[in-house]
Amino acid sequence: MAPSFLVPGAYAAPANELKLALIGCGGRGTGAVFQAFETGHPIKLVAMADAFQDRLDTSYKAISEKFGDKVDVPVEKRFVGFDGYKKAMQEADVVILAAPPGFRPSHFVEAVNQGKQIFAEKPMATDAAGIRKVLAAAEVAKSKKLNVVVGLQRHYQTNYREVMKRIHNGDLGEIIGGQVYWNDGGVWVRERKPEQTEMEYQMRNWYYFNWLCGDHIVEQHVHNIDIANWAKNSYPVKAEGTGGRAVRNGKNHGEIFDHHVLTYTYADGSVIHSECRHFPGAANRVDETFQGTKGKVFLSAGNHGVMTDWKGNPIYTHDRENQPNPYQVEHDELWATLVKGEYKFADAENAAKSTLTAIMGRYATYSGKELTWDEALNGTVDLFPDTLAWDAKPKILPGEDGFYPHAIPGKTKVV
Ligand SMILES: NC(=O)c1ccc[n+]([C@@H]2O[C@H](COP(=O)([O-])OP(=O)(O)OC[C@H]3O[C@@H](n4cnc5c(N)ncnc54)[C@H](O)[C@@H]3O)[C@@H](O)[C@H]2O)c1
Repeated sequence: MAPSFLVPGAYAAPANELKLALIGCGGRGTGAVFQAFETGHPIKLVAMADAFQDRLDTSYKAISEKFGDKVDVPVEKRFVGFDGYKKAMQEADVVILAAPPGFRPSHFVEAVNQGKQIFAEKPMATDAAGIRKVLAAAEVAKSKKLNVVVGLQRHYQTNYREVMKRIHNGDLGEIIGGQVYWNDGGVWVRERKPEQTEMEYQMRNWYYFNWLCGDHIVEQHVHNIDIANWAKNSYPVKAEGTGGRAVRNGKNHGEIFDHHVLTYTYADGSVIHSECRHFPGAANRVDETFQGTKGKVFLSAGNHGVMTDWKGNPIYTHDRENQPNPYQVEHDELWATLVKGEYKFADAENAAKSTLTAIMGRYATYSGKELTWDEALNGTVDLFPDTLAWDAKPKILPGEDGFYPHAIPGKTKVV
């Protein structure tokens, strides 16, 4: 599940600059372009696509101000709307996919079909229908030797790499249990404006709608769930859990829950406890712990990696000082590979399966029922709108009181 194999000479690296297109020009997409440029490799940003003109303009300005000599995106290569991504991709060798998660399957499939090298943000989809598309395209990407790096950046963070190497080497014995957390106060809310259509409102306030976001268990907690899968070197066979909305009850809070608490069971019977919540003012915790037959480990994105045996004797303690930024490392490693014309990265399959693990968790908390991996993967509930247009209706709509319906465990059909 770590970045995979190396096949030299997989494609002909261009003699000049590598041409980059940005799809989804928000905070993360703009940041990813910065990180690409910071690698120091010869890269030119040649096209940009966003659903909204203002988001594209803000991103273009920020990138041009910092890296003007690396930007050559004339107005006719700035594509606005739902379909602009296809044209932007045609201009480039390499694409950054950073639109909201619901668009990842269609954007990833198109990038693979066009034969592009890919940096894709997580998560890879918001429902099982999307995951199946990504898994199929991931196979095509491998056969075409297209590098795919996914922004599950803990895979590019030294403490995680060092600890996982030791776990897979058996230093903790068999991993029999663990706990993974993303508990914090939550994220931004974008208020409804009177002139917006329902589609525009949901697109602006995308975090709160499952067809776009997948709920915070998918959008955020996927990072920690993915670490459990990495530690186990497999994916869970079933999930059960509980969740709901304790504090998230406004008209701008869409349909997502504010807490999910689950157990994931793996084929060998080991169990991972997963917990994510958005409660402002409550205690924060974002980390991962695992217990093995010989010892235990504490990990976090704050460069923790503390492994001890059951008597407390150290097995490995990661040095937390002067560690590289994993958001930069993923680009350093990707672009170093691209400029040499090599094939090294095939992150999409694991990223899709870790995303499905999180989606399976949402299915379990929404339905209040135990779900197997196969039930989740084969789910037929497709959240995506039938038509993408500013005057088209998403499948989820507010009631007359302005509040959106949300899942009721025990009643809601999820697959
Ligand atoms: N790896 C990480 O730690 C990390 C951190 C933040 C965000 N992310 C991921 O990055 C992605 C973007 O998040 P963000 O924080 O930048 O959100 P954002 O809202 O700032 O940016 C998303 C951008 O995509 C645009 N967009 C929406 N639909 C589009 C479409 N169909 N085609 C093209 N553009 C479209 C939006 O208008 C917006 O400008 C999400 O998947 C998020 O989960 C990852």
